[in-house]
Amino acid sequence: MWRKIFGVGKRGTADTEENLSPHLAVDRESMPRHIAIVMDGNGRWAKAQGRSRSAGHEAGAHTLKSIVRAASNMGIEVLTVYAFSTENWKRPHREVDFLLNLFDSFLEQEIAEIHAQNVRMRFLGRRDRFTDRFLRRMEDTEERTGPNTGMRFNLAANYGSQDEILRAVRSVAVRVAAGEITPEEIDETFFSNVLDTAGDPPVDLFIRTSGDLRLSNFLLWQSAYAELYFTETHWPDFTPEELARAIEEFAGRSRRFGGLDPEK
Ligand code: FPP
Repeated sequence: MWRKIFGVGKRGTADTEENLSPHLAVDRESMPRHIAIVMDGNGRWAKAQGRSRSAGHEAGAHTLKSIVRAASNMGIEVLTVYAFSTENWKRPHREVDFLLNLFDSFLEQEIAEIHAQNVRMRFLGRRDRFTDRFLRRMEDTEERTGPNTGMRFNLAANYGSQDEILRAVRSVAVRVAAGEITPEEIDETFFSNVLDTAGDPPVDLFIRTSGDLRLSNFLLWQSAYAELYFTETHWPDFTPEELARAIEEFAGRSRRFGGLDPEK
């Protein structure tokens, strides 16, 4: 069964979605179910334009909005983006503050549209360093969009994969010590369901923008068999059209999951 991935911009606007080729076709079975994105390069984009890093992050927020809309329209089941790592607290105080305020206003401004798109949003990562105001915003967003049945949109904030795995291991250890479960019950499925991404399928397509070739402690367990797509494009310049290209490339790859290629 073939499905088209259409652009979703409003006619007559300069929205980047407008450029998405209506002719791109990908076999439905070859579509990734779960796409993860490391949205890197806001700073480099800003520098290249002689603008402030804040301007780069603002442009990045605009890109995120269009990518969420495009991924949802393409029928992607889960989109997970890396907004702030457990290591990003090391950045200058002013930049951290700017980013957290940007996340807050993004949620405030976009929640209605996200909800209207039937997208369910949730947050991955530790919740212990955010302001009460932002925590409330996260909880409200999750509560409001929780019943939605469309794309699941995960925003990783104060997230690190090793930290996530350790939190999960500790929670399981407590349950074993309490006699609730036996060590033998802990298999891949069980463990996947105690991670922040509980209930989501594994990552199929892992995208990183801006040229660096690393995973940066993002979804390490979930991406065990992910196909990697690295692009030089800085995040603010990443378009739904390039997302479609990444999906096309993914669809053309042979995934063996450790086995042999049946066609060879
Ligand atoms: C990487 O660029 C980006 C971040 C650390 C933050 C991600 C934030 C956004 C994409 C802004 C919008 C997000 C939301 C949730 C509204 P960088 O600063 O590391 O860029 P550089 O490596 O070029 O310096």
